[in-house]
Amino acid sequence: MKTNSRRYHITTFGCQMNKADSERMAGILEDMGWQWSEDPNQADVVLYNTCTIRDNAEQKVYSYLGKQAKRKHEQPDLTLIVAGCVAQQEGEQLLRRVPELDLVMGPQHANRLQDLLEQVFAGNQIVATEPIHIVEDITKPRRDSKVTAWVNVIYGCNERCTYCVVPNVRGTEQSRTPEAIRTEIEELGRQGYKEITLLGQNIDAYGRDLPGTTESGRHQHTLTDLLYFVHDVPGIERIRFATSHPRYFTERLIRACYELPKVCEHFHIPFQSGDNEVLKAMARGYTQEKYRRIIDKIREYMPDAAISADAIVGFPGETEAQFENTLKLVADLGFDRLNTAAYSPRPGTPAALWENQLSEEVKSDRLQRLNHLVAVKAATRSQRYAGRIEEILVEDQNPKDTSQVMGRTRTNHLTFFPGNIDELKGKLIQVKITEVRAFSLTGEPVYAPVLA
Ligand code: SAH
Ligand code: SF4
Ligand code: F3S
Repeated sequence: MKTNSRRYHITTFGCQMNKADSERMAGILEDMGWQWSEDPNQADVVLYNTCTIRDNAEQKVYSYLGKQAKRKHEQPDLTLIVAGCVAQQEGEQLLRRVPELDLVMGPQHANRLQDLLEQVFAGNQIVATEPIHIVEDITKPRRDSKVTAWVNVIYGCNERCTYCVVPNVRGTEQSRTPEAIRTEIEELGRQGYKEITLLGQNIDAYGRDLPGTTESGRHQHTLTDLLYFVHDVPGIERIRFATSHPRYFTERLIRACYELPKVCEHFHIPFQSGDNEVLKAMARGYTQEKYRRIIDKIREYMPDAAISADAIVGFPGETEAQFENTLKLVADLGFDRLNTAAYSPRPGTPAALWENQLSEEVKSDRLQRLNHLVAVKAATRSQRYAGRIEEILVEDQNPKDTSQVMGRTRTNHLTFFPGNIDELKGKLIQVKITEVRAFSLTGEPVYAPVLA
């Protein structure tokens, strides 16, 4: 075993699941006596928690890894780890490509880091990518924020969207029990956290794999039930959840969000395409009409709710007219935010093998046109905040202007206002919005800080 003074570094790529996994792995390393190093070049354990959702995400990993592999020739006791989705996808091939690696570990193995590292320190080169039952985490995560926290509720994904690697790399759905989730949130409340985000790749699938039905025959563990079960945890002021799938989104869930005061009025529901034939080729299991009905229903209950989504342009075979249906959906619904991407063929997914792939030119042209429309619509939607008083949960200093702090509205809009972070961190402040941009706001506090 190495000594206590040694340092580790983690770089995280990809989505919120990876961020949450990294925080748990950092917690395990600290528990083992390792200390955080911001600079990877000063660290004795370097861990890359990787993403393979698109090709450019994967390529980024190889360039970072190359540098550390070189360093290892001068410093042979450097321990080099690749975790996350590239690790799961490439497995042993990664060792062939980068023989300097000590440990390749898939996302399901994150909580086993201590066990795996001990095998590495005993002189083994390890690949841990076999599917396993994810063990409950017993170590405290080292969380990046002291105000907001991720809480995993379901791991994996059982959907088979034809473009997506996630089911291959994250495995089948595994829900945590409501009791384990509530216990984690109660601990967060005691530690002073104010906001939690419940996480799952397809969070609406929560509970499907848990036993139990109610007297009426309804399954008792749904996301809606979970919200009712955790919403009163003391200290927690705001509850968010992501990512929602339109196929499973229910009115019961919308009603719960409307009824439960802590659940924030922000919904992240990817639609991927505004064209029914493309949706069918993607195997998404809903139509654009159904998607519109969901958004209409949300706005019926909560007219001011923020809606964000993901969309893909240039899916194999997408015609200009089909792409225009996506533009039309965006123009009609007006999103507060949209994550857009050009389709990237991924190994091991059905759509990558189809012959009707589009050229990079067509994809990037469509991406630009969509992004332009998104910015125009978001700027218009942001206008509704002008002059309004919004409740901001202060998270941090504005890195670009230290006289300001930053936080978010309940609807997840990033907001800056003048103030001292030492006094305001973790507080809910009423802020009058004075400046409106497409994706952020600026304001002035209107009341003396209220202790949350
Ligand atoms: N579980 C979520 C999203 C997971 S991946 C859902 O079902 O919507 C995050 C986003 O990456 C997806 O919403 C999709 O827009 C994008 N994405 C996934 N695979 C992709 C691919 N092969 N090419 C381009 N974008 C992709
Ligand atoms: Fe991927 Fe579809 Fe699962 Fe989302 S629901 S993670 S897009 S397979
Ligand atoms: Fe990327 Fe894996 Fe998340 S592929 S988007 S890090 S689930």
